[in-house]
Amino acid sequence: MKQRSIGNVQVGAVGLGGMPMSIEGRPEIDRSVRTVHAALDAGVTLFDTADAYHIHADEVGHNETLIAQALASWGGDTSGVLIATKGGHLRPGDGSWTVDGSPAHLREAVEGSLKRLGVDAIGLYQFHRPDPRIPYEDSVGTVRDLLDEGKIRLAGISNANTEQIRQAQEILGGRLASVQNQFSPAFRSSEPELRLCDELGIAFLPYSPLGGISRAGALGDRFAEFARVAATHGVSPQRVALAWMLAKSPRVVPIPGASRPESIIDSVQASELTLTDAEQAQLDAA
Ligand SMILES: NC(=O)c1ccc[n+]([C@@H]2O[C@H](COP(=O)([O-])OP(=O)(O)OC[C@H]3O[C@@H](n4cnc5c(N)ncnc54)[C@H](OP(=O)(O)O)[C@@H]3O)[C@@H](O)[C@H]2O)c1
Repeated sequence: MKQRSIGNVQVGAVGLGGMPMSIEGRPEIDRSVRTVHAALDAGVTLFDTADAYHIHADEVGHNETLIAQALASWGGDTSGVLIATKGGHLRPGDGSWTVDGSPAHLREAVEGSLKRLGVDAIGLYQFHRPDPRIPYEDSVGTVRDLLDEGKIRLAGISNANTEQIRQAQEILGGRLASVQNQFSPAFRSSEPELRLCDELGIAFLPYSPLGGISRAGALGDRFAEFARVAATHGVSPQRVALAWMLAKSPRVVPIPGASRPESIIDSVQASELTLTDAEQAQLDAA
């Protein structure tokens, strides 16, 4: 797979999002492990997870544990793998998602993630979502402190607007490695953040790049132009969507979710799909 950078780390241009393997609708563990192994076989070296990817209150970090175990059981060399996790979201167990961006919570969360991932330092730690009750500088300032203390190797933010990206970059002293925002054919309002990351040299990780777990399969039905370009190339509309966003900037590293090996095997091939300028323009306009 073609490579891209997140901070000083090289990763395959398409990562794997772990959420579908751990939240509502998740499959049996065996299928998830096969999915992670298929991703590794296909050259995926970026795995996106979060302590909040779980269902029940007593299984915080379900997805972090799953990914750590699947990496360990793969059998190959995983030294080049970057695990990107997140803190600042909670799931109390009633189906809801809440936020806590307080320094105390983030410090506690990082300790839990370190244990579950079985590492001395987290590869990429992303502040999951701004907490309206906590000044942004306090949350991101805690991430900076964790970076200075060596608990995390790279720092990122998620669900951030352009102002917050600039603010985080300043708080982190120019060390903001990544921004993870929603971006897909269906959700394009993060284009200004993508552009800013391109300008500042920060990795931009589009999340829910296929429209989200329940809508990803119907991408081609919902967006006829993506289906048309896909037919021209003899590939899936999902692969075209990923190639389209990869072409927007060398900083883009999409993290499509998957809970089946076939999904991620198809998605990684977007890295080799080149669209014409005319196709790119048609998809931009679609
Ligand atoms: N930072 C945040 O706030 C935030 C929010 C949401 C998500 N995320 C991250 O972003 C990742 C991706 O988002 P997402 O999982 O919500 O949505 P998504 O990537 O848009 O869609 C995921 C679904 O797409 C299907 N899929 C994947 N590749 C496919 C292909 N080539 N052809 C057909 N179907 C394909 C998978 O189906 P199968 O399950 O059948 O394999 C999967 O369930 C998450 O896993 C998570 O890591 C972050």
